[in-house]
Formats: sequence, structure tokens, C-alpha cells
Amino acid sequence: MHHLGILLSGRGSNFVAIADAIEAGKIPDAHIAVVISNLADAPGLDAARQRGLTAVAIEARGRKRTEHDQEIVATLQSHKVELVCLAGYMRLLSPGFVHAFPGRILNIHPSLLPSFPGLDAQQQAFEYGVQVTGCTVHFVDEQLDHGVIILQRPLPVLPRDDGHAVADRILEQEHIAYAEAIARVLSGKYEIVGRRYVPKS
Ligand code: GRF
Repeated sequence: MHHLGILLSGRGSNFVAIADAIEAGKIPDAHIAVVISNLADAPGLDAARQRGLTAVAIEARGRKRTEHDQEIVATLQSHKVELVCLAGYMRLLSPGFVHAFPGRILNIHPSLLPSFPGLDAQQQAFEYGVQVTGCTVHFVDEQLDHGVIILQRPLPVLPRDDGHAVADRILEQEHIAYAEAIARVLSGKYEIVGRRYVPKS
């Protein structure tokens, strides 16, 4: 059984999509061992508790990033987490965190990376005038929104779109993409060649 750890800071719709995908058998042999938020009032924590999952708040206030991250790493390890999924986790990970789970931390980002890293990516892309946007699931390295890409799901920006409508459609694609990427990584059927994720049959 693969133990997943979810980190979130907000509403947690990606977490819910992952949990639903596990229940639907789309991520074989996996379960969510722990959900962690840096914010105690994150709605995603309540959603986790409602599902009977272990959900903990580990707040950063007044602490150094490395100390905060060490506590999160220790919590993940105590739940025997094999794969860490960042799902709207709004903090940068310290190098120590990244090294504690080499090649075992995923993130989802609401743009086609490497375009529009950072905050408010959907709106940035829309205002830039892109005609194709989407989402990216990638391995986490020490740089923001930078690690090896596992999969991307593109979608068109329509002539009468507004930023909110586009963001909503990106989110629908995120929910599909994240579960699929987790299943791929847990299958182990891939290799990394340079920066390229190469599936193996
Ligand atoms: C998503 O758009 C995700 O790509 C971004 O933060 C948002 C989180 O949404 N990193 P949710 O909390 O999963 O609903």
C-alpha cells in the first residue's frame, strides 16, 4: 500500500479530487495517510476530517522555515508517507524538506510551465493574452514551480472568456491531471532523462 501525504493551505479541491480518485480505484494501492495544512482554518482540513482522514495543522507563525519544515517532515515520516502531494500549499519548501523526499514530492500548478510560475498564474496567463493555457503536475525541486514535468493538460482560452471562467476550467483539468500523475508515479513505470519524464511500458 502506498502512503500519500497531502499538504494544503486552502479549500482543498485538489485533495478531494485525489481522495475521490483513490475511492474510485483510479490510483491503485494508495491511501491518504495524513493531510497537513500550515493554516489551522484551511477548509481542506475539515474536508479531510469529514472523510475520516488524519488531518493536522502545523502552523508556521513565529518559526523559522527550516524548523517548520522539519516538523512537517517528521509528521510525514511518522505516517510512513512515501509520496508527498502539494495541493494548493502556499509555502516554498526548504532544501532540507526537498532532500528528505528525493523525487517523491509532487506539485500542481495552474499554467503550462515554464510559462507563468508563481502566484495567480491563471490570471497572469489570461491577461498576457495566451490562447492556450492549462495545468502542470511536476516533481518539486528547490526552485519554485521548476521540477521535472510529469504531465500537462492544455485547454483553449475562448474569445469571450474572462479570467475566472478560464481558472474554473483549469481547475477541472487539475483534478483529472493530479490523480493521473500520482498513479503514474506510483506505478514506477518511468525514468527521468535530463529534465524529461519518459514513461516506460
Ligand atoms: C490550485 O489552482 C493549484 O493549482 C494551486 O492552488 C490551487 C489550489 O486549489 N497551486 P485547491 O485548494 O486544491 O482547491
